[in-house]
Amino acid sequence: MFEVIRNETLAPRLHRMVIRAPRVAAARQAGQFVIVRAAVGEERIPLTIGDADPKAGTISLFIQAIGASTRRIVAVPAGGALQDVAGPLGMATEMERWGRVACVGGGVGTAVLYPMAKALAQIGNEVTTIIGGRSAPYIILADELAVFSAAVKITTEDGSCGRQGFVTAELAELIADPARRPEAVFAVGPVPMMRAVAELTRPAGIKTIVSLNPIMIDGTGMCGGCRVEVDGESRFACVDGPEFDGHLVNFATLADRLTMYQDHAAGCRLG
Ligand code: NAD
Ligand code: FES
Repeated sequence: MFEVIRNETLAPRLHRMVIRAPRVAAARQAGQFVIVRAAVGEERIPLTIGDADPKAGTISLFIQAIGASTRRIVAVPAGGALQDVAGPLGMATEMERWGRVACVGGGVGTAVLYPMAKALAQIGNEVTTIIGGRSAPYIILADELAVFSAAVKITTEDGSCGRQGFVTAELAELIADPARRPEAVFAVGPVPMMRAVAELTRPAGIKTIVSLNPIMIDGTGMCGGCRVEVDGESRFACVDGPEFDGHLVNFATLADRLTMYQDHAAGCRLG
Protein backbone atom coordinates (compact mmCIF):
# COMPACT_ATOMS: atom_id res chain seq x y z
CA MET A 1 0.00 0.00 0.00
CA PHE A 2 1.13 3.56 -0.72
CA GLU A 3 0.34 6.20 1.89
CA VAL A 4 -1.26 9.47 0.81
CA ILE A 5 0.62 12.28 2.57
CA ARG A 6 -1.32 15.23 1.12
CA ASN A 7 -4.34 15.71 -1.10
CA GLU A 8 -5.26 19.22 -2.29
CA THR A 9 -7.48 20.73 -4.98
CA LEU A 10 -5.58 22.94 -7.46
CA ALA A 11 -8.37 23.77 -9.90
CA PRO A 12 -11.92 22.53 -10.53
CA ARG A 13 -11.66 18.67 -10.47
CA LEU A 14 -7.83 18.77 -10.47
CA HIS A 15 -6.02 17.39 -7.42
CA ARG A 16 -2.38 17.25 -6.38
CA MET A 17 -1.63 14.20 -4.23
CA VAL A 18 1.67 13.55 -2.47
CA ILE A 19 2.26 9.81 -2.11
CA ARG A 20 4.91 7.87 -0.20
CA ALA A 21 6.61 5.75 -2.88
CA PRO A 22 10.36 5.73 -2.10
CA ARG A 23 11.54 3.48 -4.95
CA VAL A 24 9.66 5.48 -7.57
CA ALA A 25 10.90 8.76 -6.04
CA ALA A 26 14.51 7.55 -6.22
CA ALA A 27 14.35 6.24 -9.79
CA ARG A 28 12.03 8.63 -11.60
CA GLN A 29 13.11 11.09 -14.28
CA ALA A 30 11.14 14.02 -15.72
CA GLY A 31 8.56 12.92 -18.27
CA GLN A 32 7.88 9.50 -16.75
CA PHE A 33 4.60 8.23 -15.31
CA VAL A 34 3.18 5.65 -12.90
CA ILE A 35 0.11 3.42 -13.06
CA VAL A 36 -2.13 3.75 -10.04
CA ARG A 37 -4.95 1.60 -8.68
CA ALA A 38 -7.01 2.94 -5.81
CA ALA A 39 -7.94 -0.57 -4.60
CA VAL A 40 -7.89 -4.23 -5.67
CA GLY A 41 -10.05 -4.77 -8.75
CA GLU A 42 -10.03 -1.09 -9.72
CA GLU A 43 -9.06 0.29 -13.15
CA ARG A 44 -5.37 1.03 -13.75
CA ILE A 45 -4.85 4.78 -14.25
CA PRO A 46 -1.65 6.19 -15.82
CA LEU A 47 -0.54 9.41 -14.11
CA THR A 48 2.45 11.63 -14.88
CA ILE A 49 4.89 12.00 -11.99
CA GLY A 50 4.64 15.73 -11.33
CA ASP A 51 7.56 15.94 -8.94
CA ALA A 52 9.59 13.78 -6.57
CA ASP A 53 11.46 14.20 -3.30
CA PRO A 54 13.88 11.25 -3.09
CA LYS A 55 14.99 12.22 0.46
CA ALA A 56 11.42 12.18 1.76
CA GLY A 57 10.59 9.18 -0.46
CA THR A 58 7.55 10.94 -1.94
CA ILE A 59 6.15 11.73 -5.38
CA SER A 60 3.50 14.25 -6.45
CA LEU A 61 0.74 13.27 -8.84
CA PHE A 62 -1.74 15.56 -10.58
CA ILE A 63 -5.09 13.87 -11.09
CA GLN A 64 -8.03 15.19 -13.06
CA ALA A 65 -11.16 13.58 -11.63
CA ILE A 66 -13.11 12.96 -14.82
CA GLY A 67 -14.24 9.34 -14.45
CA ALA A 68 -15.29 6.87 -11.77
CA SER A 69 -11.77 5.52 -11.21
CA THR A 70 -10.04 8.91 -11.02
CA ARG A 71 -12.78 10.13 -8.66
CA ARG A 72 -12.05 7.15 -6.39
CA ILE A 73 -8.32 7.98 -6.38
CA VAL A 74 -8.85 11.64 -5.44
CA ALA A 75 -11.33 10.58 -2.74
CA VAL A 76 -8.49 8.99 -0.74
CA PRO A 77 -7.65 11.53 1.97
CA ALA A 78 -4.29 12.30 3.57
CA GLY A 79 -3.53 9.38 5.91
CA GLY A 80 -5.28 6.92 3.58
CA ALA A 81 -3.53 4.65 1.07
CA LEU A 82 -3.59 3.61 -2.58
CA GLN A 83 -3.33 -0.05 -3.52
CA ASP A 84 -0.70 0.21 -6.30
CA VAL A 85 1.72 2.82 -7.60
CA ALA A 86 3.74 1.04 -10.32
CA GLY A 87 6.63 2.70 -12.11
CA PRO A 88 8.41 4.76 -13.16
CA LEU A 89 7.23 3.98 -16.71
CA GLY A 90 7.84 5.56 -20.12
CA MET A 91 10.86 7.35 -21.55
CA ALA A 92 12.32 10.37 -19.77
CA THR A 93 12.21 13.82 -21.35
CA GLU A 94 15.03 14.36 -23.86
CA MET A 95 17.37 16.64 -21.93
CA GLU A 96 19.64 18.97 -23.83
CA ARG A 97 21.04 22.45 -23.34
CA TRP A 98 19.28 24.25 -26.15
CA GLY A 99 19.71 27.71 -24.63
CA ARG A 100 16.33 29.41 -24.89
CA VAL A 101 13.39 27.03 -24.50
CA ALA A 102 9.66 27.70 -24.51
CA CYS A 103 7.43 25.42 -22.42
CA VAL A 104 3.75 25.67 -23.38
CA GLY A 105 0.98 24.19 -21.23
CA GLY A 106 -2.74 24.11 -22.05
CA GLY A 107 -5.21 23.56 -19.20
CA VAL A 108 -4.46 20.42 -17.18
CA GLY A 109 -1.57 19.68 -19.56
CA THR A 110 0.35 22.25 -17.50
CA ALA A 111 0.67 19.62 -14.77
CA VAL A 112 2.46 17.29 -17.21
CA LEU A 113 4.58 20.19 -18.45
CA TYR A 114 5.76 21.18 -14.96
CA PRO A 115 8.39 18.43 -14.40
CA MET A 116 9.69 18.83 -17.95
CA ALA A 117 10.10 22.60 -17.57
CA LYS A 118 11.74 22.24 -14.16
CA ALA A 119 14.27 19.67 -15.43
CA LEU A 120 15.07 21.77 -18.51
CA ALA A 121 15.74 24.81 -16.30
CA GLN A 122 17.85 22.73 -13.90
CA ILE A 123 20.33 21.81 -16.65
CA GLY A 124 20.78 25.47 -17.62
CA ASN A 125 18.16 26.29 -20.24
CA GLU A 126 16.47 29.70 -20.13
CA VAL A 127 12.83 28.66 -19.88
CA THR A 128 9.97 30.90 -20.93
CA THR A 129 6.72 29.31 -19.79
CA ILE A 130 3.39 29.97 -21.46
CA ILE A 131 0.28 28.56 -19.77
CA GLY A 132 -3.34 28.94 -20.77
CA GLY A 133 -6.80 27.96 -19.67
CA ARG A 134 -10.45 28.72 -20.19
CA SER A 135 -10.53 31.20 -17.29
CA ALA A 136 -8.59 32.17 -14.15
CA PRO A 137 -9.54 29.11 -11.99
CA TYR A 138 -8.07 26.83 -14.68
CA ILE A 139 -4.63 28.46 -14.56
CA ILE A 140 -2.48 26.13 -12.46
CA LEU A 141 1.07 26.06 -11.09
CA ALA A 142 1.90 29.63 -12.18
CA ASP A 143 3.79 30.37 -8.93
CA GLU A 144 5.65 27.05 -8.97
CA LEU A 145 6.69 27.56 -12.61
CA ALA A 146 7.82 31.13 -11.88
CA VAL A 147 10.45 29.80 -9.45
CA PHE A 148 12.65 28.56 -12.30
CA SER A 149 11.22 30.29 -15.43
CA ALA A 150 12.75 33.44 -16.90
CA ALA A 151 9.16 34.54 -17.56
CA VAL A 152 5.68 33.08 -17.15
CA LYS A 153 3.08 34.26 -19.67
CA ILE A 154 -0.58 33.54 -18.96
CA THR A 155 -3.51 33.44 -21.36
CA THR A 156 -7.19 32.86 -20.71
CA GLU A 157 -9.94 32.51 -23.25
CA ASP A 158 -12.23 34.90 -21.36
CA GLY A 159 -9.49 37.36 -20.42
CA SER A 160 -10.03 36.85 -16.66
CA CYS A 161 -6.27 36.36 -16.14
CA GLY A 162 -3.34 37.43 -18.33
CA ARG A 163 -3.77 37.97 -22.05
CA GLN A 164 -7.11 37.09 -23.66
CA GLY A 165 -6.79 34.27 -26.20
CA PHE A 166 -4.86 31.05 -26.72
CA VAL A 167 -1.32 30.13 -25.67
CA THR A 168 -0.34 30.16 -29.35
CA ALA A 169 -0.72 33.97 -29.49
CA GLU A 170 2.05 34.35 -26.88
CA LEU A 171 4.20 31.72 -28.60
CA ALA A 172 3.84 33.44 -32.00
CA GLU A 173 5.08 36.69 -30.43
CA LEU A 174 8.04 34.92 -28.84
CA ILE A 175 9.04 33.28 -32.13
CA ALA A 176 8.78 36.59 -33.99
CA ASP A 177 11.15 38.36 -31.57
CA PRO A 178 14.79 37.56 -32.53
CA ALA A 179 15.95 38.38 -28.97
CA ARG A 180 13.58 35.85 -27.38
CA ARG A 181 13.12 33.24 -30.14
CA PRO A 182 13.35 29.75 -28.57
CA GLU A 183 15.67 27.03 -29.87
CA ALA A 184 13.21 24.35 -28.75
CA VAL A 185 9.55 24.24 -27.75
CA PHE A 186 7.88 21.73 -25.41
CA ALA A 187 4.08 21.61 -25.53
CA VAL A 188 1.54 19.67 -23.47
CA GLY A 189 -2.22 20.06 -23.59
CA PRO A 190 -5.26 19.27 -25.69
CA VAL A 191 -4.53 17.75 -29.12
CA PRO A 192 -5.70 20.85 -31.06
CA MET A 193 -3.30 22.96 -28.99
CA MET A 194 -0.29 20.71 -29.57
CA ARG A 195 -1.12 20.56 -33.29
CA ALA A 196 -1.41 24.38 -33.43
CA VAL A 197 1.96 24.74 -31.65
CA ALA A 198 3.61 22.31 -34.08
CA GLU A 199 2.20 24.21 -37.06
CA LEU A 200 3.59 27.48 -35.66
CA THR A 201 7.08 26.11 -35.08
CA ARG A 202 7.36 24.02 -38.28
CA PRO A 203 7.89 26.96 -40.69
CA ALA A 204 10.31 28.51 -38.16
CA GLY A 205 12.32 25.25 -38.06
CA ILE A 206 12.15 25.09 -34.25
CA LYS A 207 12.52 21.66 -32.62
CA THR A 208 9.18 20.82 -30.99
CA ILE A 209 8.43 18.09 -28.47
CA VAL A 210 4.86 17.20 -27.53
CA SER A 211 3.65 14.84 -24.80
CA LEU A 212 0.87 12.59 -26.05
CA ASN A 213 -2.00 11.26 -23.98
CA PRO A 214 -3.68 8.38 -25.82
CA ILE A 215 -5.72 5.85 -23.86
CA MET A 216 -3.38 3.61 -21.87
CA ILE A 217 -4.29 0.23 -20.41
CA ASP A 218 -1.32 -1.90 -19.34
CA GLY A 219 1.38 0.77 -19.76
CA THR A 220 3.97 -1.83 -20.75
CA GLY A 221 3.68 -2.04 -24.55
CA MET A 222 1.56 -5.22 -24.51
CA CYS A 223 -2.01 -4.13 -25.25
CA GLY A 224 -1.62 -1.67 -28.15
CA GLY A 225 -4.14 0.72 -26.61
CA CYS A 226 -1.80 3.70 -26.71
CA ARG A 227 -0.78 3.31 -30.37
CA VAL A 228 0.08 6.60 -32.10
CA GLU A 229 1.41 7.33 -35.57
CA VAL A 230 4.77 9.11 -35.68
CA ASP A 231 6.64 9.68 -38.94
CA GLY A 232 4.28 7.21 -40.64
CA GLU A 233 5.04 4.42 -38.16
CA SER A 234 3.08 2.98 -35.25
CA ARG A 235 4.59 3.76 -31.87
CA PHE A 236 3.37 3.02 -28.36
CA ALA A 237 3.19 6.11 -26.16
CA CYS A 238 3.73 4.08 -22.98
CA VAL A 239 7.12 2.63 -23.93
CA ASP A 240 8.32 4.73 -26.91
CA GLY A 241 6.95 8.01 -25.48
CA PRO A 242 4.96 9.72 -24.19
CA GLU A 243 7.07 12.53 -25.74
CA PHE A 244 7.53 12.70 -29.51
CA ASP A 245 8.69 15.12 -32.19
CA GLY A 246 5.61 17.30 -32.73
CA HIS A 247 6.43 17.77 -36.42
CA LEU A 248 6.18 14.01 -37.03
CA VAL A 249 3.03 13.18 -35.04
CA ASN A 250 -0.19 12.38 -36.90
CA PHE A 251 -2.54 14.47 -34.73
CA ALA A 252 -5.58 13.60 -36.86
CA THR A 253 -5.41 9.88 -36.01
CA LEU A 254 -4.66 10.68 -32.35
CA ALA A 255 -7.76 12.91 -32.18
CA ASP A 256 -9.84 10.18 -33.89
CA ARG A 257 -8.71 7.49 -31.45
CA LEU A 258 -9.40 9.71 -28.42
CA THR A 259 -12.89 10.45 -29.72
CA MET A 260 -13.52 6.76 -30.42
CA TYR A 261 -12.94 5.94 -26.74
CA GLN A 262 -14.53 9.11 -25.35
CA ASP A 263 -17.01 7.20 -23.15
CA HIS A 264 -14.06 5.50 -21.43
CA ALA A 265 -11.78 8.53 -21.31
CA ALA A 266 -11.13 8.15 -17.58
CA GLY A 267 -8.15 5.99 -18.50
CA CYS A 268 -6.20 8.70 -20.35
CA ARG A 269 -2.85 9.76 -18.92
CA LEU A 270 -3.02 12.26 -16.05
CA GLY A 271 -6.41 10.82 -15.07
P1 NAD B 1 -8.80 23.37 -22.63
O1 NAD B 1 -9.59 22.76 -23.72
O2 NAD B 1 -9.48 24.21 -21.62
O3 NAD B 1 -7.60 24.20 -23.32
C1 NAD B 1 -6.58 24.79 -22.52
C2 NAD B 1 -5.83 25.80 -23.33
O4 NAD B 1 -5.18 25.16 -24.43
C3 NAD B 1 -6.69 26.88 -23.98
O5 NAD B 1 -7.04 27.88 -23.07
C4 NAD B 1 -5.74 27.39 -25.06
O6 NAD B 1 -4.79 28.28 -24.57
C5 NAD B 1 -5.06 26.09 -25.49
N1 NAD B 1 -5.75 25.59 -26.68
C6 NAD B 1 -6.83 24.77 -26.74
N2 NAD B 1 -7.17 24.56 -28.03
C7 NAD B 1 -6.31 25.27 -28.79
C8 NAD B 1 -6.16 25.48 -30.18
N3 NAD B 1 -6.98 24.92 -31.09
N4 NAD B 1 -5.16 26.29 -30.61
C9 NAD B 1 -4.32 26.86 -29.73
N5 NAD B 1 -4.41 26.71 -28.39
C10 NAD B 1 -5.40 25.93 -27.93
O7 NAD B 1 -7.95 22.25 -21.89
P2 NAD B 1 -8.39 21.34 -20.67
O8 NAD B 1 -9.88 21.17 -20.67
O9 NAD B 1 -7.74 21.71 -19.43
O10 NAD B 1 -7.69 20.00 -21.15
C11 NAD B 1 -8.43 18.97 -21.57
C12 NAD B 1 -7.69 18.24 -22.68
O11 NAD B 1 -6.29 18.16 -22.45
C13 NAD B 1 -8.21 16.84 -22.79
O12 NAD B 1 -8.43 16.59 -24.16
C14 NAD B 1 -7.05 16.01 -22.25
O13 NAD B 1 -7.03 14.74 -22.83
C15 NAD B 1 -5.87 16.85 -22.66
N6 NAD B 1 -4.68 16.55 -21.85
C16 NAD B 1 -3.54 16.27 -22.50
C17 NAD B 1 -2.40 15.92 -21.77
C18 NAD B 1 -1.16 15.53 -22.48
O14 NAD B 1 -0.34 14.88 -21.88
N7 NAD B 1 -0.99 15.92 -23.73
C19 NAD B 1 -2.43 15.91 -20.40
C20 NAD B 1 -3.62 16.26 -19.77
C21 NAD B 1 -4.73 16.56 -20.50
FE1 FES C 1 -0.79 -0.86 -23.66
FE2 FES C 1 0.77 1.18 -24.25
S1 FES C 1 -0.77 1.11 -22.78
S2 FES C 1 0.68 -0.75 -25.23
